Amino acid sequence: MKLSLYTLLLLFVSQTLIAQTAYEHNYDENKVPQFHLPDPLKTFEGKQIKTSQEWTNMRRPELYSFFEENVYGKVPGAIDDISFEVIEQGNNAINGKAIRKQVKVTLTKNKQSISYTILIYLPKNKTTAPIFMGPNFRGNHTVNADPNIIMTSAWVPNTKELGITDHKAQESSRGTRTNRWAIEKIIDGGFGLATIYYGEVDPDKDDFSDGLHSLFYSEGQLNPKPDEWGSISAWSFALSKALDYFETDSAIDAAKVVVFGHSRLGKTSLWAGASDQRFAGVIANDSGCGGAALSKRKYGETIAIINTAFPHWFSDNFNKYIENESALPVDQHELLALIAPRPLYIASAKEDRWADPKGEFLSTHFASPVYALFDKEGISTSKIPEVNQPIQNIVAYHIRTGKHDVTEYDWEQYIKWAKKHIE
Ligand code: GCU
Repeated sequence: MKLSLYTLLLLFVSQTLIAQTAYEHNYDENKVPQFHLPDPLKTFEGKQIKTSQEWTNMRRPELYSFFEENVYGKVPGAIDDISFEVIEQGNNAINGKAIRKQVKVTLTKNKQSISYTILIYLPKNKTTAPIFMGPNFRGNHTVNADPNIIMTSAWVPNTKELGITDHKAQESSRGTRTNRWAIEKIIDGGFGLATIYYGEVDPDKDDFSDGLHSLFYSEGQLNPKPDEWGSISAWSFALSKALDYFETDSAIDAAKVVVFGHSRLGKTSLWAGASDQRFAGVIANDSGCGGAALSKRKYGETIAIINTAFPHWFSDNFNKYIENESALPVDQHELLALIAPRPLYIASAKEDRWADPKGEFLSTHFASPVYALFDKEGISTSKIPEVNQPIQNIVAYHIRTGKHDVTEYDWEQYIKWAKKHIE
């Protein structure tokens, strides 16, 4: 049978729609299932953890391994070589207040390599600065209108509003995400900002033939193994390697790097902070399912929905928990606990029901007993605060008005909190 192009298109669209709507989402609090939340202070074998030493030596390693093998996926070995090259520098950026540096990182494995560029702004009035470090969605050149930012040549998603139709970044997209990156406020607050375009590390599509993963394959291998890394783990790894660079640059206080991310990149910042304890603090903005939100609540996006829509983000093993959350011996509050005792900020937006603000908040509360072991103040209340009423302890949380986004308001809170707990 010969099918017309139109029929094929219809078939494709309907199949995609079926795939996307196969799993229902719930926005009704009354329909949240009853669930048992695992105790971060009890080992898988049932031993109660009573001291920070027991946490560090016994419980943390087993929890980390679980997330590594069953959720985000293991990094399959070390890289062979890493190199850094400062490819551009300017001393008069951000209204004359900042130094700009662009550093090319090259990771080599099995004689193949990938490169990505870190864009860095540092306050001029400091000899060494603490920084926020986070990946961006559409290329470094989108975070500010600064004409000196090198435009990415990597694959970018087609985006009509940005005039991108052939997966190539366009000059017209320069500065289009300025609203999400309050760089001047960050500089005025005494911090620097570093960002990378995540697509230079691994393009955000269900295709493992390219990006960082492909460097690690053995002969004939086409995909990571079931317990090996998905894209979130690869993006996190690249953030860690950027931290390797910061340790070589005296203008950056590498002991005070706060890893930041929004949405899928908030999931990424959490995993980066859990995996690399050199990060001094972690911020996850609207990170939702697979980020700060409790999976067992099944509110908004679920494990089934996320693994169907984005099969490349997590390890294949995570599929075992599709419509099977009760079998999960962990939940996302334990991912947050892996960041203890370091400062951690989780933020939600009122209208972002897809990310389950209440589930994101409850995670901070249920991770807090681990902070208490270290005498650090977490979040003791189990009642979500009112909108725009941040709680800013070592573990911090806010829910702001508005939708899924990163706003000026969010950055004002992060800067204030970081001044207290990081600087
Ligand atoms: C989708 C996805 C979320 C993700 C978000 C984003 O909505 O379902 O899990 O956080 O994209 O990254 O913007």
